[in-house]
Amino acid sequence: MTTALTPPAALHNEAVQLDTADPLAPLRTRFLLPPDVVYLDGNSLGPLPAAVPPALEDVLHRQWGTALIGSWNTAGWWEAPLRVGDTIGALIGAAPGQTIAGDSTSVQLFTALDAAATLRPDRPLLVTDPGHFPTDRYLTHAVARRRGLQVHHVSPADLPRFLATEGHRTAVVSYAPVDFRTGELYSMRALTRAAHAAGALALWDLCHAAGALPLDVDALGVDLAVGCGYKFLSGGPGAPAFLYVAHRHHDRLDTPLPGWTGHADPFALARHYTPAPGIARARIGTPPILSLLALEAALTAFDGVDLNQVRAKSLSLTGFFLRCTDELLTPLGFTPVTPADPARRGSQVTLRHPHARGLATALAEHGVIADMRAPDLLRFGVNALYTSHQDLLTAALALRDLTRNAAYDPAPPATGPVT
Ligand SMILES: Cc1ncc(COP(=O)(O)O)c(C=O)c1O
Repeated sequence: MTTALTPPAALHNEAVQLDTADPLAPLRTRFLLPPDVVYLDGNSLGPLPAAVPPALEDVLHRQWGTALIGSWNTAGWWEAPLRVGDTIGALIGAAPGQTIAGDSTSVQLFTALDAAATLRPDRPLLVTDPGHFPTDRYLTHAVARRRGLQVHHVSPADLPRFLATEGHRTAVVSYAPVDFRTGELYSMRALTRAAHAAGALALWDLCHAAGALPLDVDALGVDLAVGCGYKFLSGGPGAPAFLYVAHRHHDRLDTPLPGWTGHADPFALARHYTPAPGIARARIGTPPILSLLALEAALTAFDGVDLNQVRAKSLSLTGFFLRCTDELLTPLGFTPVTPADPARRGSQVTLRHPHARGLATALAEHGVIADMRAPDLLRFGVNALYTSHQDLLTAALALRDLTRNAAYDPAPPATGPVT
């Protein structure tokens, strides 16, 4: 894109220096990003990894087109949910055999919440964040309604106080480590510990964390976790989600959707359901092989990647964008809502501005793709695998120019779906 004004030299030099020294810069070639686009919406839909088209070609033409139904056995289709689950498990700190890929985050959440309630049968409270993503809140209420439980909305900051009085009645606490609106990062360690000290289970929604941060669900003693495949994992639109359940709960794991593929012996076509051992019992129905294998190919973008380096670069990117904001955007009425403290920052920066929708639309027209959350939040997601500091300066300058020149519609109509 072209901007009317030259970049402030100091920020420009800093961006170039940081990008030149960036050990992860070569990973950008693992993605097929369109030229002339600055893509800052990978926290909503990751871009297309270069490994996906040839993998899908093979799945379509050889595995499906030629080998036909035999591919369930010969191409590893049947095991794909567990195999891809383990690959994701490696990214979230889960030892093999605890993570399964398939279905949507919402389905996995329902499974996880309902299963958590059965694991703590004498406790009537489900606790969740009032600011949690809507599907998490809706599904918590759905499980509560069906089981005669109650939902309490407690912000992460208030959880210890809440548990001090209600902990003994709490079955599960359900949070996300990264707030999807503000990008604020909460301590999974502290909140998981608080839940456990009260005898409750900890369920995490890792949609905005898997692939973006080093995670260690096993070491933290997380009980259950879910996440999507289409954000930082770049598995494609509607990519299968994942469910993690710690080994220690498997024997008592009673899932609400005991479909035939979770049976101990699915092809016996038995009259009654006997759950498969381990996480395989969380299988439901026939897996979506095309999406699952696209996700599997997408995950190769993480081959050899150290998530500590990803985190370090992500913080460098968001820190740099916050500096650009201070210098270029705060004077024009933008207010950062993402914490400046790196320990409290996920992999996005959110800016408040009353014309967020119009600005997001205008930015996209100028080749900078970010997104907004109503009514006034502009979100800029960074992914250390492909975002550069120069991308972020381009975005900040474009935003500055559009705002200064009032070159946007202050009240455009709401656009289509964004998640
Ligand atoms: C934290 C969180 N959970 C869940 C979802 C969406 O769930 P699903 O993948 O079922 O659409 C999103 C989507 O943005 C999200 O941000």
